[in-house]
Amino acid sequence: MKFNHPVLTLAAGALFVNALPSGSSSKPRGHDAPPCRFALKWSQEQVLEHTDDFISDLLYWEGKFHQNDIAYNAENGMSYDGSQIDWVTGENTKKHTFSAASKEALQIMLYSRVIDGSPEAARFISPENPKGASGKVISIMEKKLKTYQRFNETYPGFGGALPWIATSNADISPQDGWTNRVPGLDNGELWWSVYAWIQVLEKVDQHGYQDLAKGWKAWLDYTLTNMVKIFHRGNGVVCAVTEIGDQALSVDDPAQTYKCEGSGVLNDPYEGELVAYMFHLFGDLSEEDKDALWVAKRPQLVKDEYEMGGVGPITVERGYWFSGHEPWKVLELPFYDVDIIRRVYHNAERARTCNSAVTKVPGLFASVNNITDVETDTIIGYISPAGIPSIANQTEQYLDVITPYASWPTILFDKSVGLAWWRNMVAGKKMQNPFGSTESTRVDGEGVSALLTWDSKVLTVVSILGGVGDLARERMQADGVYNEFIRIAEREYSMVFGDLKGEDIELCVPSVQIPDRGLKDFRHCEA
Ligand SMILES: *[C@@H]1O[C@H](CO)[C@@H](O)[C@H](O)[C@H]1NC(C)=O
Ligand SMILES: *[C@@H]1O[C@H](CO)[C@@H](O)[C@H](O)[C@H]1NC(C)=O
Ligand SMILES: *[C@@H]1O[C@H](CO)[C@@H](O)[C@H](O)[C@H]1NC(C)=O
Repeated sequence: MKFNHPVLTLAAGALFVNALPSGSSSKPRGHDAPPCRFALKWSQEQVLEHTDDFISDLLYWEGKFHQNDIAYNAENGMSYDGSQIDWVTGENTKKHTFSAASKEALQIMLYSRVIDGSPEAARFISPENPKGASGKVISIMEKKLKTYQRFNETYPGFGGALPWIATSNADISPQDGWTNRVPGLDNGELWWSVYAWIQVLEKVDQHGYQDLAKGWKAWLDYTLTNMVKIFHRGNGVVCAVTEIGDQALSVDDPAQTYKCEGSGVLNDPYEGELVAYMFHLFGDLSEEDKDALWVAKRPQLVKDEYEMGGVGPITVERGYWFSGHEPWKVLELPFYDVDIIRRVYHNAERARTCNSAVTKVPGLFASVNNITDVETDTIIGYISPAGIPSIANQTEQYLDVITPYASWPTILFDKSVGLAWWRNMVAGKKMQNPFGSTESTRVDGEGVSALLTWDSKVLTVVSILGGVGDLARERMQADGVYNEFIRIAEREYSMVFGDLKGEDIELCVPSVQIPDRGLKDFRHCEA
């Protein structure tokens, strides 16, 4: 026995060396069951060269988030916003018992790719039994539909829209603070994800999915019938948040009322735009009302130029913060079918990646949860203002925290470079845990957010899977609205963008690492 120990160590060492990528050999790098801290076994060059194998490792671990009581509630099929993890071990602790339509959208986009037969999506959902992935998501989506239907019966005033919701009971209800209130932006994201979901169910018709497709179609049709009444005030005004007179009264009850909360309107050219397209294409609006939507939005679509540290000029669409959260709409609709949009958005990734490279930031910026206060085991708060101030509407920003998910818009153009950034961030101390990547880290390595969320994890996964714009395109073509979508999208961007500067600039890769300031990796995910 005495001699076994060193022999075993040696054997393990030999395996480790074999598994390690060696130079530029083209041997596959992925592992069937990669180690939790797999990112440290990959150099940047290896990620750039063997991106698909790196993706295989990533999906295996990100998929650990997708568990009952962590990412979702198996009883009612609903998502949870996320869960905290223990600062020392990395085990899941305090669950966020609520969710929103935007998280639901991520869940449904992910599941659409599973049903469409993506092996990568199946690896995320059930790596040990990829063939079982479809059955698993169908059963969740059956429960979710019933849950949405019960919510609609109990709270008919929402007309099918979802507020922030408490999702830990079988019957969901408006989360504290969301009684008689409903946000537009998140629901726009949900509608288009369900649109793509129905498409994939109808398309993959050999498994008896048609009843489920009909159920979801009835839900979406019903919801869209009410949306204009709930969110649209005419003259191009769409409420950011609508105040409902009484959520227990039906939409058509004479005593029911809807008005915008305060002066907040949804007219941004970013995520909120998904609502405008739904209204334009399916809202049964007059031509005047349709035109007014775009007239109201137009001032926000602004051309800007990025230039810093010898990089640029690069023509970009000015961001609100230029946060990596903002391009969300391109995951759901086929915006990149429009040449000028695809090129402007490609330029955005030149600016995003090169800005961090030349300013020596070890990662990318996006709105994200702040770090954990270790004393009180709480998340300090949410950081909205995180992006690139020089090309943003909002120039006051907090740039001490970076997040792996900010790489997703880059991944959509270039998986290799995008994932080189993702790797650079998760290589930081505590940035991998037993459920994959960790929410965020300080640039200076002094703290991380010991948290798992749909946003910070699954946006990246959905981007790796290519979004669902292709499914939306197919359905829009079948519905006869695709050409109109392209016409509007092209018209709006062509008004602002013509010749673009900087299209010959390469995307940048990370130039510095997150410093080691003595944080200890999670015990259940050590190198
Ligand atoms: C939602 O509830 C209303 C009012 O009870 C009902 O008429 C409608 O059919 C329901 N819609 C769906 C999709 O369940
Ligand atoms: C993030 O947390 C730090 C403490 O680590 C705090 O000083 C800072 O104000 C927080 N930032 C935001 C935008 O809330
Ligand atoms: C930010 O957007 C608002 C609303 O469109 C606009 O009035 C303001 O001028 C913009 N500011 C900058 C710096 O872009």
